[in-house]
Amino acid sequence: MNKIPILMDCDPGHDDAIAIILALSSEKLNVLGITTACGNQTIEKTTKNAQGICEFLGRRDVPVAKGRRAPLLTPVYTAGIAHGESGLDGPQLPEPAVPLQEESAVVFMARKLEESRKPVTLVPTGPLTNIAVLLLCYPHLIQKIDRIVLMGGSVVSGCSGRGASEFNIMVDPYAADIVFTSGIPIVMMGLDVTNFTTIGFDEKEKFRRAGRVGALVADLADYFGRGFEMVGWCGVPVHDACTIAYLIDPTLFTMREMNVRIDLSGEFTMGSTVGDSYGVEGHEANALVGLASDRERFVELLLGACAGYEKGEGCNE
Ligand code: RIB
Ligand code: CA
Repeated sequence: MNKIPILMDCDPGHDDAIAIILALSSEKLNVLGITTACGNQTIEKTTKNAQGICEFLGRRDVPVAKGRRAPLLTPVYTAGIAHGESGLDGPQLPEPAVPLQEESAVVFMARKLEESRKPVTLVPTGPLTNIAVLLLCYPHLIQKIDRIVLMGGSVVSGCSGRGASEFNIMVDPYAADIVFTSGIPIVMMGLDVTNFTTIGFDEKEKFRRAGRVGALVADLADYFGRGFEMVGWCGVPVHDACTIAYLIDPTLFTMREMNVRIDLSGEFTMGSTVGDSYGVEGHEANALVGLASDRERFVELLLGACAGYEKGEGCNE
C-alpha cells in the first residue's frame, strides 16, 4: 500500500494520545516519528507521555524527539486543569524503555524530511512552536512538506483558550502566524469541528470492550471528559484525533477552503484565527478548514483501531 509519510508533533495530552493510537494503527499512514511540544504540560512531561504511549502500544520502533521548552515569544502556558499535573492524568502508562532521540525535535524533523523519498505530511496537535522553527531554520525543506494537517484555531464556534482563541494557537500565536503565512497547504481541524467530534459519555463502555487499547482510550476519555460532562457537553471532544482521522478518511469531514489569519494584537482576541468563511475579503485561501464531522463514523473508526491492536495490527511488524 502507498502509505502517507507523516511526522506527528504533539503535546500529550489525552486527545494527543488518542491521535497517536489512531495513527499507529493505520495501514494508510507511515509514522516517521513523534516530536513533542510544550503545551498541555511542560516539555519534559509531554515528552515522557509520548514515550509512555509508544511503550504501552508496543511501538518501541517509533522515534520520539523532544521539542522546544517554550513558545517563540510568549510565556509558557500549560493546561494542567484539563490534562492534570502529569499532562496525562488518569491512566497508568509504563515507563519508556527506549531513550529519546538525541537530536532535538526540529533537527529530527529536518533529517526525516531530507531522508524521505516523497513529501511528508506534518501533523501538529499542540502549539506550533517546533513547526515554525523548522520552517525558519530549514526553508529549503519546505518543498519536502506536502501539507500541514493541524489541530488548532476556530473560525465559527467558541474557544478553549483565553478570550476568543483556541489553546494551541493562543499558546504560541507568533508560531501560528509563521505557519499560516508559509504558503504550505494547511488543513485546519479547529474547534468548529473538533468540539463536536466526540466519544459519547455512554460510548466509553464500547471502548472498554475493545481490548486493552480500547480500555486505555476509555480511561483517557474518563479523565479528559470530566469537565465536559460537568458543563453538560454532548460528549468528550477528541480534538487531536480529527487530524489523523482526516488523513485516513477525509469523507468523515465537511471542509471549506478559506483565508485564515492570526490576530497578533487584540487585547481579548490575541491568538484567535480569523477566517474569511465566505471569501468576501479577497484574501487568498490558505487553509482547508473543518466545519463538521460524521461523529458516528469517527467513533467506529476509532473503535476499529483499538480492536485492531488486539489482532496485532498497529504493532511493530
Ligand atoms: O484546544 C484543544 C487543543 O489544546 C488540543 O490539541 C488539546 O490537546 C490541547 O492541546
Ligand atoms: Ca494537543
